[in-house]
Amino acid sequence: MEVKFKIFRFHPKRDKAPRYDTFKVEASLNDRILDCLNKIRWEQDGSLAYRMSCAHGICGSDGMTINGVAALACQRLVKDYDYAKEILIEPLQFFPVVKDLVVDMTRFFQGMKAIHPTIEQNVSTTKGRKERKQTVEEHAQFEDAIKCIFCACCTASCPVVLEEEPEFIGPAAVLRAQRYIFDSRVKDALDRMKIMEEPHGIWSCKTYFRCTKVCPKRIKVTDAILQTKSRILRELHPDTP
Ligand code: SF4
Ligand code: SF4
Ligand code: FES
Repeated sequence: MEVKFKIFRFHPKRDKAPRYDTFKVEASLNDRILDCLNKIRWEQDGSLAYRMSCAHGICGSDGMTINGVAALACQRLVKDYDYAKEILIEPLQFFPVVKDLVVDMTRFFQGMKAIHPTIEQNVSTTKGRKERKQTVEEHAQFEDAIKCIFCACCTASCPVVLEEEPEFIGPAAVLRAQRYIFDSRVKDALDRMKIMEEPHGIWSCKTYFRCTKVCPKRIKVTDAILQTKSRILRELHPDTP
């Protein structure tokens, strides 16, 4: 079966404006979009740029926009799309393009760093050679958040980031903060909650749920954000009605 791909191309150092190239690929219904991109790069145009590594939804490097929705190319199959028409492949939104489908993730990782206190407590350190025990229930409080693979699909889809407040640290960063704030071994949770209240922090989230819809690891990102908001209100603003 022949499948057509319309792919965003742009080399900012060389091109005046982006363009789209169309490629035809022999593919089957269960081929992954990443397989098709690999065929294009290996057999038709070696200059096509995109990131990939594990090809199994683990490394988070091949986040891109497929038919308008952020996704991992290695997790999406040809049959997930209307393959009788062209499948449109574009870079993740919001981030500057380095080349073709490769984006500069600096802003994403700045958000991830911004959630930590200046002097951070090391969760993994064991005191007096004793392990730090945690019950299954305590661990379950942040189990969802540690599934995050830093793919940035959520941040590149969040309407606040895209349309209202580009400085917002983004859903993945708030989710990362939730992972520490709800970890029973962490002693600086209050400091971390205060950081969340800084401008462009947690209160910039308007609960649009877009992050949850696109997350390839099916993390309930918005629930984690809401949970963190409630905890901040309870612990930092107990008098709020
Ligand atoms: S729930 Fe919040 S962080 Fe997630 S997409 Fe909506 S506004 Fe953005
Ligand atoms: S929360 Fe989901 S979409 Fe966002 S970076 Fe983590 S894995 Fe990717
Ligand atoms: S290539 Fe690693 S997540 Fe897709």
